[in-house]
Amino acid sequence: MEEKIIIITGANSGIGKAAALKFATEGYRVIMACRNLKISLAAQQEIIHLSDNKLVDLMELDVSSFASIHSFCATFKSKYPHLDILINNAAYLNHGEKEYKLSPENIELSFATNTFGPFLLSSLLKNHLEKSKDPRILNACTTNIKHFFDPKRRIEFDNLQGELKDTRTYNVYKMYGDSKMALLILTFKMAEEYKDAGIKVNALQINRVKLSKETIEKMHSKWKVLARIQNLINPAPSRMADNYFDICTSEAYKNVTGQLFNHKREIIKPATSEKGIAQIKNIFGISYYPKYANDPKNVEQVWKLCTKLTFITN
Ligand SMILES: NC(=O)c1ccc[n+]([C@@H]2O[C@H](COP(=O)([O-])OP(=O)(O)OC[C@H]3O[C@@H](n4cnc5c(N)ncnc54)[C@H](OP(=O)(O)O)[C@@H]3O)[C@@H](O)[C@H]2O)c1
Repeated sequence: MEEKIIIITGANSGIGKAAALKFATEGYRVIMACRNLKISLAAQQEIIHLSDNKLVDLMELDVSSFASIHSFCATFKSKYPHLDILINNAAYLNHGEKEYKLSPENIELSFATNTFGPFLLSSLLKNHLEKSKDPRILNACTTNIKHFFDPKRRIEFDNLQGELKDTRTYNVYKMYGDSKMALLILTFKMAEEYKDAGIKVNALQINRVKLSKETIEKMHSKWKVLARIQNLINPAPSRMADNYFDICTSEAYKNVTGQLFNHKREIIKPATSEKGIAQIKNIFGISYYPKYANDPKNVEQVWKLCTKLTFITN
């Protein structure tokens, strides 16, 4: 039987690591695409040991860097004959961060990591995915996008390359939410663009998951305390990793594309109304996403930026 190959970005901690273990346990060849090989080596060894599957490879990838993505894809294609599944899991969110940061190609770091990086990676791997019998891409989204139920909320399109970094107050959560909304918009658009190639593109709206100790270690001190308290009640990453596995492998989703799933693996629909009681249901429920994601103006702007900044026309 042909080997099934999966790439998971940011697979050295949290949900990505739990997903790498799940796929390895199920016999997949897993490519852990991580930016820090030194710290990721321990995770790779742990996964090989726990899954009893030696086909777990570690490759260097900084998703925020276009140069790194190009280099990763060239190496991957020279080593592997095809790709079955790509999970764009890695993300930038540095809790409590006050400073606006730019990627190596001078793009705001949340957008470089959470939107443009996944776009470029998917685009460069498209021809390898096409060689699979059942190619699937899954993008890790978040409930943070519910802030777009606020009719005044907009993606900061005018500040993605440092244009207003010295004059506009930076809010790491706003930028994170904006970049994940852009990733959701991209999911819908990519699903259309990749239909003819048979590649299914979906997103998962992740809600609460226990944060890894590695991620907590990176936080500013007051956030560490808060994260540890939240971890007492939040579910383990393995629960979300099971969702990754099911959405990317199950027969039930074989022909499903351009959808956003909630953590119960139900398809989330665009909100039909964003007023009154309906709006309260939108905000507290898990059945609807903001109409903002389907607005053709926003779709066009996200797609234009992706193709312009990465020089990819597909
Ligand atoms: N946990 C939650 O409650 C929650 C809620 C909503 C959505 N999500 C989403 O779920 C996904 C996984 O989150 P998590 O909680 O498992 O986070 P995590 O434990 O912090 O893992 C994030 C991973 O991304 C990697 N990463 C960050 N920037 C990268 C870059 N430039 N290049 C390559 N890898 C990079 C990190 O690597 P390093 O170790 O090198 O930093 C780490 O392995 C993310 O997309 C996140 O936005 C999580």
